[in-house]
Amino acid sequence: MTTTHDGASRTSNRKLLDWVDGMARLCKPERIYWCDGSQAEYDRLCDEMVQSGAFIRLNSEKRPNSYLARSHPSDVARVENRTFICSERQEDAGPTNNWTDPHEMRARLTELFDGCMRGRTMYIIPFSMGPLGSPIAHIGVEITDSAYVVVNQRIMTRMGQPVLDVLGADGDFVPCMHSVGAPLAPGEQDVPWPCAGNVEDKYITHFPETREIWSFGSGYGGNALLGKKCFALRIASVMARDEGWLAEHMLIVGVKSPEGKKHYVAGAFPSACGKTNFAMLIPPKGFEGWEVTTVGDDIAWIKPNPEDGKFYAINPEYGFFGVAPGTNAKSNPNAIASLEANCIYTNCALTDDGDVWWEGLTEEPPTHLIDWQGKSWTPGCGRPAAHPNARFTAPASQCPSIDPEWENPAGVPITAFLFGGRVSTNFPLAFQSYNWEHGVYMAATMGSEATAAAIGQAAMRRDPMAMLPFCGYNMAEYWKHWLRIGRQNVATPPRIFRVNWFRKNEHGKFIWPGFGENMRVLKWVLDRCDGRASAIEGPIGWVPGWDDMHWDGLDFPPEDFFSIMNIDKEVARQETVEQDELLTRFGDHLPREMELERELQLARLYHSPPVWDLSRAVAR
Ligand code: GTP
Ligand code: SPV
Ligand code: MN
Repeated sequence: MTTTHDGASRTSNRKLLDWVDGMARLCKPERIYWCDGSQAEYDRLCDEMVQSGAFIRLNSEKRPNSYLARSHPSDVARVENRTFICSERQEDAGPTNNWTDPHEMRARLTELFDGCMRGRTMYIIPFSMGPLGSPIAHIGVEITDSAYVVVNQRIMTRMGQPVLDVLGADGDFVPCMHSVGAPLAPGEQDVPWPCAGNVEDKYITHFPETREIWSFGSGYGGNALLGKKCFALRIASVMARDEGWLAEHMLIVGVKSPEGKKHYVAGAFPSACGKTNFAMLIPPKGFEGWEVTTVGDDIAWIKPNPEDGKFYAINPEYGFFGVAPGTNAKSNPNAIASLEANCIYTNCALTDDGDVWWEGLTEEPPTHLIDWQGKSWTPGCGRPAAHPNARFTAPASQCPSIDPEWENPAGVPITAFLFGGRVSTNFPLAFQSYNWEHGVYMAATMGSEATAAAIGQAAMRRDPMAMLPFCGYNMAEYWKHWLRIGRQNVATPPRIFRVNWFRKNEHGKFIWPGFGENMRVLKWVLDRCDGRASAIEGPIGWVPGWDDMHWDGLDFPPEDFFSIMNIDKEVARQETVEQDELLTRFGDHLPREMELERELQLARLYHSPPVWDLSRAVAR
């Protein structure tokens, strides 16, 4: 074992050098490598992975400089039940997080990490979440024994020597410790995707007081690319609470009207509910002259600016780690164009001519594929070719719709917040909160259906602000933080809306065409914020009337619109009653506003007639 390395020639940051030395003594790697972030380094690591069988190089004419990785079948997604918030006090983690005593967890981690990198390289990855040197950005350093993580981090973050230069001798960073948890015995042959075989051996742990991350046993996505969910959401949400800003699971999109008026909107939709699609929306027929641009598709860091009274957001990421299945030239042409070169694909299928494929990419599947598990696949064989959570890692700069301001270190001003889950019944297409407190309540009680269960019996999973798996502290305290942020009178908070693209008819088909057509909702939202569109006061918020929406270019009959706007009051009342299950879990931490808003909503829903019918309501 050697622990010699050239760290001292890269940085004079004592905290960093000492930490690396300590981790090397603990993990006992074969060698230590400081990542410089160069293209040459990226190419070399990819070549090495092609040699070792960890990567498959794709056809260089069809997908230049692109690779396919296949994970171990047990390591295909985030593991929420193995994700821990180890605050000193259990109630600081709150009832929606797994908690373990930090001292106990440290002892367990020390055992797990002892010798865990034997036979492997320990990579040091300095990275910046947010534009390098931006006052909103923060630096992390990930130590990992996975070359796959290194090359993905180079796409997903600003990474390498320039970050060390900004960090300087006494800059602070979030230490992010990662191991796949599969040491190699002398002479032992490596496998293409090393990881801890049993899910109980995986640990995704966070120490909010000391702002540290330790992740063991998984090489996949949010478990291993520690800048993303672990840092930019779980640790950053704690930093944001302490410092008066917001770290959110939100896309950021820009909208320019034909008159040249530009707005930015941030949207929180739970995982796999369409953030990437919405962030890259193409304006439909009837919206000639409108421009929609992409700032981010997953995470937003948002700060009130007392100088002009606006809330400014940055996308702390540098790439997209997007769900591949369902992405095609119709559903998301901007994503497809972003994938032309320089991408990493994980758990997609391989075509016979060395390209990738996934369900929904083309209407007709190819006649033969190698599936995500490396097995021969033909249409109708009964297995999906790509894993449903197969992902692409793509540089954001390659997206044709990328916003000119996406790297502005000051961020972009946010006009509105959207919150939207997957609800197949009774939830309107769009509505606006009565005020900030009501908006926070709407966002906090957001539900999304876990599966496409039978109509009317879909199980609702509460996903407050789309942050259920990502809030690094007590969720009720996070709601209080939201309430405070809107009231502090130094900046005017964005208006809050709820949206739902997923309402279905009695045959189980989506009624709203969605995708590009969501532009119509976006326009109403911005018209509301600009004071141009009227709305109708309904029992759960302000809703657009038929005449408030721009319908040019779409043949969507008023009956269909009313059918996705109507509210069965008894069903809505039942839903509101059931929110109690979530709210009471927080005991004394629950902000009183939540209960008051819930009571008001119940009161509004008691009145007859049983259905609130938009076609009979009158605009004010
Ligand atoms: P994470 O990366 O997991 O945080 O998720 P995301 O929110 O970026 O999810 P993603 O964009 O990958 O979600 C894709 C899913 O949403 C696919 O099943 C799409 O078909 C579906 N989807 C996106 N937009 C729409 C829409 O407007 N209507 C309908 N019906 N489905 C949509
Ligand atoms: C999500 O699950 O919300 C993702 C994917 O964006 S991962 O980065 O794996 O968390
Ligand atoms: Mn996400």
